[in-house]
Parts: sequence; structure tokens; C-alpha cells
Amino acid sequence: MRAADALSIADLHTLAKRRLPRILFDCIESGTEDETALALNEASFGHYRLMPRHLVDVRRRDAGLTLFGRRYAQPFGIGPTGFAGLFRVDADAILARSALTADIPFVLSGASVARPEAVAAVAPAHLWYHLYAARDPAISADIMRRVSGAGVEVLVLTVDNPVPAKRERDIRNGFALPLRLKPSILLEALTHPGWVIDYLRSGGLPGMGSWADYAPPGAGPAEIGQFFRSHSPSIQDWDDLARMRAQWRGRLVLKGIQNPDDARRALALGVDGIIVSNHGGKAYDMLPLPLFSLPAVKAAVGGRIPVMLDGGIRRGSDILVACALGADFVFVGRATLYGVVAGGQAGADGAVAILADEVDRGLAMIGCPAVADLDARWLTQTHPGSAATLPPFDAETVR
Ligand SMILES: Cc1cc2nc3c(=O)[nH]c(=O)nc-3n(C[C@H](O)[C@H](O)[C@H](O)COP(=O)(O)O)c2cc1C
Repeated sequence: MRAADALSIADLHTLAKRRLPRILFDCIESGTEDETALALNEASFGHYRLMPRHLVDVRRRDAGLTLFGRRYAQPFGIGPTGFAGLFRVDADAILARSALTADIPFVLSGASVARPEAVAAVAPAHLWYHLYAARDPAISADIMRRVSGAGVEVLVLTVDNPVPAKRERDIRNGFALPLRLKPSILLEALTHPGWVIDYLRSGGLPGMGSWADYAPPGAGPAEIGQFFRSHSPSIQDWDDLARMRAQWRGRLVLKGIQNPDDARRALALGVDGIIVSNHGGKAYDMLPLPLFSLPAVKAAVGGRIPVMLDGGIRRGSDILVACALGADFVFVGRATLYGVVAGGQAGADGAVAILADEVDRGLAMIGCPAVADLDARWLTQTHPGSAATLPPFDAETVR
């Protein structure tokens, strides 16, 4: 199977696994500690079914949503994934191009291989930037100045990783800084010649486009990585957030909020949007599942700012369920990463197209002409007897 023949995100997952050395594929897949959150995120959508209204004219359908005064063609965007350019050369620019083509946002990770200026040149009106704040506020300020100068209007701050995550799979593989690659891992990598050839042709270990300017002069990729690590994750408290709010003139989005009290506090501080997230299971295994935290966070901010969601989205129907449960927008992390790894530009475009097609088909199947019309009345529970264990979702509380 080639990426062009993929029918589902699961197909792209299979292809990506085949192309990447195991140590790198594990780095995409890994969670922390017992790695329960990733599977639970994916399974959370299965608790719901979409309640159809048949015999509705659905010949015209609208998947678009308006966010921050701007309309996007789909209800989903591409979330930040650090070091994507290590998994596929130029992945950041490729994902930006997919976002441009599909008219959806792309959040460039603060740990990207590409320079934000270069990615902004590809898709200036679709790029959001995810800031890894530095311990030195002058560095954070300079990165904000650069991305703002490149035209970025939305800054995303991730708040759910105050200390490094305990990703045991990566540590066992020797994929933790400093790198300690075992011979068996290197030999396994050689069984993925497509990736190895691209890696060598592109000059080997890539650098970090947001951070290279601040590392000591002459620092190579490994030293830039160490320098980044010495600054991040920086502990962020509410005072830091208030300072950033004062510094950043554009929209400020907090990613990783799950507690309704935090959501209220963020709103009071002037935050413009929230992404309910558990970092795709990559921060701390015991964090709640975003889909189940969503209704309470949504209720806490009372419709004053958009509440978005990520984590575990592999089907268009997952997106519809999230929107029906109150999400004003959703993001995918691994789904598009599998696509870009599996087939470069065609694979990334393919991942977006698969989700878009499933959203569109899903809308028709349930008799809902527009994603913007979805609310909890379109939901029912898979096992009605389990109602007591799931969050309330009557239309009044959710929207
Ligand atoms: C390989 C990889 C790298 C990631 N890097 C970042 C990052 O740099 N910053 C961040 O806020 N989230 C990062 N995330 C988390 C994603 O933005 C997102 O929250 C998560 O992937 C959503 O879950 P999903 O992969 O199941 O869609 C990363 C996720 C993956 C898989």
C-alpha cells in the first residue's frame, strides 16, 4: 500500500510505522509511565454515538467554523508536534502547505526543526506558533518578536509539561538527551533505508529553527538541543502568564487546560482561547481524558472564548463527537504526522483529506448540514446504562 491508497488514518499509521526506524516511531507513539492515556484518549470517543435526524436535505453541507474572527474550511487544524522534521525532512513546511491547501490552521511547535520565518513564508495566513517559553525571558520575548514579525497572530502556550515527561519507551531506546544509541537500535534503523537515505542526504541530525539563534556561536544540532533543554520546560506560573499576556498583542491560547478553575482564571487574565488537552498522553499518564473534561471547561468560560480540544482523534466522527460535546474547534497531532511520515506532501494532504471526507460524510449521514449546528442533542451514549460514569451533556450545559 502507498500513502495515496490509504483509506484511513489507521492505514497511514501502518505506513508510517513501516517507514520509520523503530526508535523514531516509538517517539511519536510513546506516552509516559504505563502509557494508558493514549489508548484511553482514542477510546473516549467510542462512548458516544451520533443521533441522526433522517430525511433532512443534506445535499449542501458546511464543515467550516469561525475562530478568532476568521473562517476555516474545516472544524480541525494541525496541532504542534516537535521535531517533525526529524521524522520526515521538511515536515514543518509540508504540514504548513497542507494547512494552506485545506484552509485550516497549522500550529508550528516551538521545538520545530524549521525556522518559524521559513514556515510563515509557506502559509502566512494559516500559521499559529506554539511557544516553548525560555527560562531567560529575553529569549521568549525575541521569539515572540520574530513570529509576530513573520505575521503570526495566534500564540499557543502549552501548560501541561512543567517538568520533563517520564517516557519510559524513549528512555529504554536511548532516545533521551544525551543520546545513547545502542548498536541494536542503529541496526534496526538500517532496515528502513527510505528514511536513512533522506536523513543522510539532508545532512543528518537537524537543528532547531526557533532556538539556533540563541545557542552559543558555532553550536551544532546536538548543542542547540542541549541549550533548548537547559531552558525548557520552564516552570510557568500565573504571573509568567500575565507577563506574556502583556507582551503578546495577538491572540493567546492556552493548551493543556483541563480544570474548570484554571479555565476561569485564564479567562480573567485575558486569554483568548483554550485547548483542552492531555498532550496526547505524552506529558503525564494520569491526566484526565480531554473529551470528558471538555463540558465542564466549556461551562466554566460560558461561551466567552473558544474552547478547543485535542487528543485521540483518528476519524472524522471523532471530530463530530467533540464538536457536539461543545468543542469550538479541534486539533490533531499524530494523524497528520502519520500522513507526512508515510508519504511526504501527498501523505499529509491525504491525512487531512481523509478526515475532511469523513466529517463531510458524517454530517450527511446524521442529517446535520453544518458542523456549526452540532450540539449535545446530536449525541447519545453507546451504552445508555453507563450514563452515570460520563459527563452530563444536555444541550443547556454544553452550549
Ligand atoms: C511526536 C509528538 C510531538 C509533540 N510535540 C509537541 C510540542 O512540541 N508541543 C505541544 O504542545 N504538544 C506537542 N505534542 C502534543 C500534540 O500537540 C497534541 O496535543 C497531541 O498529539 C494530540 O493527541 P493525538 O496525537 O492523539 O492527536 C506532540 C505530540 C507528538 C505525537
